[in-house]
Amino acid sequence: MRIQLKSLDEIRLMREAGLVVSSILDEVCAAVAPGVSTWELDKLAAKLIEKHKVTSAFLGYYDYPAVLCTSINEVVVHGIPRKEHVLQDGDIIGIDFGIFKHGFCADSARTILCGDVIESTRKLVDVTRESLNLAIDQCRVGKRLGDIGHAVQTLAESNGYSVVRVFVGHGIGTAMHEDPGVPNYGRANEGKRLKQGLVIAVEPMVNAGASDVEVLDDAWTAVTKDRKLSAHFEHTIAILDDGPWVLTRASSRPGDPGRD
Ligand code: MF3
Ligand code: CO
Repeated sequence: MRIQLKSLDEIRLMREAGLVVSSILDEVCAAVAPGVSTWELDKLAAKLIEKHKVTSAFLGYYDYPAVLCTSINEVVVHGIPRKEHVLQDGDIIGIDFGIFKHGFCADSARTILCGDVIESTRKLVDVTRESLNLAIDQCRVGKRLGDIGHAVQTLAESNGYSVVRVFVGHGIGTAMHEDPGVPNYGRANEGKRLKQGLVIAVEPMVNAGASDVEVLDDAWTAVTKDRKLSAHFEHTIAILDDGPWVLTRASSRPGDPGRD
C-alpha cells in the first residue's frame, strides 16, 4: 500500500479520535492498582468506548478478543486482558488502546507503574517515555524515517537497553496500520523523507535485556525471550509544516513540549 498523506481537515478529524483515546487512557491508567485485573481494565475501557460512541480498533482485529492490550512486566506488547491477570505491587503494565471516530483511527500506549516500583524499573519506563519524546521531536518535514528510529535507539542503547525490532510503528489513518513502517532503530539521515500530512504511530518498545521476543501459545502475547522487563509508549503524530502535532496527547499544540 502506498503512503496516504492526509489533508488538514482529515488531521483535525484524527485529532478528535486522538483526544478520545487520550481521555479514555487517562481513566484506564488511573484505575491501575495492586489487586486490579487486566480484565477489569478492559471492561472499563469498553464502557468508555460506548459512552463516547466510538469503535474499538482492536476488538476483532485478526480476531483479537479485547479492546485493550495489557502487557505486564516481561510482556512486550499484545498481552490479552484476563480475569486471572491481577496486578501486583511493583509491576509495570503497558496499556495500548485504539479507536475509530469519523472513520479515522488513533492509537496510543503508556506504561504505568503499579504501586511501589523499584528504581531500576522506573528508569526503564522513564527512558522509554523519553525515547518517544525524542522521536516526536524528529517528526518534522524534511527529516527522514531513520532519524526517528535513530533517536529511539540511541537513547535506549546508551542506557544499556535494547530496542525491539520485530514490531514497528506504522502509518495510521482510515486503517490502523498503513505504510510506512516506523522502526525504532535506524541511522540518522536515512530512509524516506517526512512530508506534511504524514500521520504515523511511533511506538518504542524498549527491553531491559536483549531485544529478542517470542510469542506465547495464545498467538498474541509477545514476551522478552530472556523474560526481563519491557516498556512501551505510543503516540499518533501528524507531521505538519510547523512541527509535530501529537494527536493522542491532550496538551499538544504544534511545538508544545511533551508530557507523555
Ligand atoms: N496498538 C497496536 C499497534 O500499534 C495494535 C494492537 S494489536 C490488536 O499495532 F490486535 F490488538 F489490535
Ligand atoms: Co500502534
